[in-house]
Amino acid sequence: MAESPFYVTTPIYYVNAAPHLGHAYTSIAADVMARHHRQRGDDVFFLTGTDEHGEPVALAAAAEGVDPQQLADRNAERFRALMPQLEASNDFFIRTSDAQHVAAVQEILERVKANGYVYEGTYEGLYCPRCADFKTAQEIAEGNTCPIHGIELDREKEQNWFFKLSAFQERLEELFESRPDFVQPKTRYNEARSFLEGGLRDVSLSRRGIDWGIPVPWDPEQTVYVWWDALLNYYTALTYAEPGVDLVDRFWPASYQLVGKDILKFHAIYWPALLMAADLPVPQRLFVHGFLLMDGEKMSKSLGNVLDPFEVIERYGADALRFYLLRDVPFGADGSVSPAAFEARYENELANEYGNLAARTIAMVHRYRDGVVPAGELDGEMAEAFDGLPERVAELIDGAEVTQALEAIWERVRRCNQYVEERAPWKLAADEAAADQLDSVLATLCEALRTLTVLLEPWLPASAAKLLGALGAEDCGYEAAAFGSGSLGAIEKIEPMFPKDPNPAS
Ligand code: MSP
Repeated sequence: MAESPFYVTTPIYYVNAAPHLGHAYTSIAADVMARHHRQRGDDVFFLTGTDEHGEPVALAAAAEGVDPQQLADRNAERFRALMPQLEASNDFFIRTSDAQHVAAVQEILERVKANGYVYEGTYEGLYCPRCADFKTAQEIAEGNTCPIHGIELDREKEQNWFFKLSAFQERLEELFESRPDFVQPKTRYNEARSFLEGGLRDVSLSRRGIDWGIPVPWDPEQTVYVWWDALLNYYTALTYAEPGVDLVDRFWPASYQLVGKDILKFHAIYWPALLMAADLPVPQRLFVHGFLLMDGEKMSKSLGNVLDPFEVIERYGADALRFYLLRDVPFGADGSVSPAAFEARYENELANEYGNLAARTIAMVHRYRDGVVPAGELDGEMAEAFDGLPERVAELIDGAEVTQALEAIWERVRRCNQYVEERAPWKLAADEAAADQLDSVLATLCEALRTLTVLLEPWLPASAAKLLGALGAEDCGYEAAAFGSGSLGAIEKIEPMFPKDPNPAS
C-alpha cells in the first residue's frame, strides 16, 4: 500500500481535575487507529494534549486557592503521564499554555478579523461555566439548567468581540451536503445537520471578565473565548511539534478527529466555520463517540463517580484496559462499564481464549516438536477462515470502527480454539502414522497465532510484542498479517500473558 498521511486527534482535556477513564477511552481509540495506520506504512501523526485556559480551569483553581497556571502545570503532567501508561503512541502532547500555541492563535484570529468575520457587540444569554458554552434555546433544560451538568445557567451580559458564525450557514450546509461522511456515525451527522437547520447565530469570540486565557491581540483587555483557543490546537500543534519541520503541509487537514458526543457542536459547526474564516481547509472526518457510563450515569469529574484508569493499569496492565474499553463499549454508542464486566472480559476472552490459545500452541510445539515449528502444510479450511481478514480490519478501521474490527479478529481467535478441539493434536501425537497431520495442525496454529497477533497489535501492543518476540516473528507490518506469509522456526516458552490473579497486592 502506498504511504499516505494519516493525522488523528483526540480532544484536548481540561486540566481542572485529574484524568479519568472517559479521557483514557478516546486516547486509546485514537492510538489503535494510529498504530494500525503505522502498520500499513502510512505517515502518521497522532496528537493529544490539554486544554488549559478559560473558566472551567480558572474556577477549579480558585476553589483550590491556587494560581490557574499552577493547577494547569500539575494536571497537565498527569495527563501527559497517562499516555505512556495507556501505551498511547502520541507523536506530540500539546498544552494550550505553550507560547507557540498562544502566538499562533493570535495570528490566526488576526486573519479572521482581517477577513471581516469579527465585530464588537453585546452578548446576552444563558451560559454554562462548566461547559464554557453559550447555550442556544434548544440546549437549555428545564428551569434554565445545563442538560449536561444539571446546574443552573448563568445569565451573562457582556461587551465582547463576536465571530460571524451566521456568515457560514450556506457553506456549512454545502459541506454537509457534499460530504456525508464528514461527521460519523450517521446519527451524529443528523444531529449536527439539525443544529445547522435551526439557523446559526453569531458567537462570542472573546470574554471580558475572564483573565485566564489568550489576550485578544487587538484588545488585550479581553481574552479569547476558550473554545476557539482550544479548537485551534489541532492546527497550531503542527506548526511547532517538530522544530524546523513544517508539519502543516504534510498533515493538514486532519484525517480523523475523535470527539465525545457532548462536544459535537463545537467540532462539527464552530470548528469548520472558524477554519473557513481563516482560509484553511476543514478536517476530513469527525468521529463522535458515546459516553462510558457507571451506574447509568456519565463518568465525569463533576459527578464524582470516577473509575481511576491508573489503578486498573497497575493491576492488569494497559492492554487489558484497552481491550476492555473498546470491546465492551461499541465505539460510537454509550455503554456501561463496571469492574465485574471488566473481569469477565479479562478472564473469558483475554486469559481463556487468546492467552490460552497462545499458551497451548507454544506448549504443544515444545512437547511434540522440541520447540521448533514444523514445516507442515497449512490447513486449507483455516486458510479460508483467515482469507481477507487483514483487508476487512483495514476497511473497518478506515471507518473508525475499532470495536467491529476487534470483533472480526476475535471471531478467528475463537475459530482457532475450535480448531484445536476438532483436531485434538494430543491424539495425533499418540499415533506415529499421523505425524504429517500433527505437523500440519501445529504449523497452522502457529501461523494463525502469528497473524492474529500482528492484527491485534494496535489493541494489545505490549502482549503482541511479547508474543511475536517468543515466536521469533518481529515483523509487525500489515503485509505480515496475511495468513501464510510467515515462516517460523524455533519458538520460546512464555509466562502466561493474562495471569488469573495479576498483581494481587495492589
Ligand atoms: N476541553 C474540552 C475539549 C476541547 S477539544 C478542542 C473538553 N474537555 S473534557 O476534559 O471535558 O472532555 C474531553 C473528552 O473526554 C470529550 O470528548 C468528552 O466527551 C470525553 N469524555 C468525558 N467523559 C466521558 C465519559 N464518561 N465517557 C466517554 N468520554 C467522555 O471537553
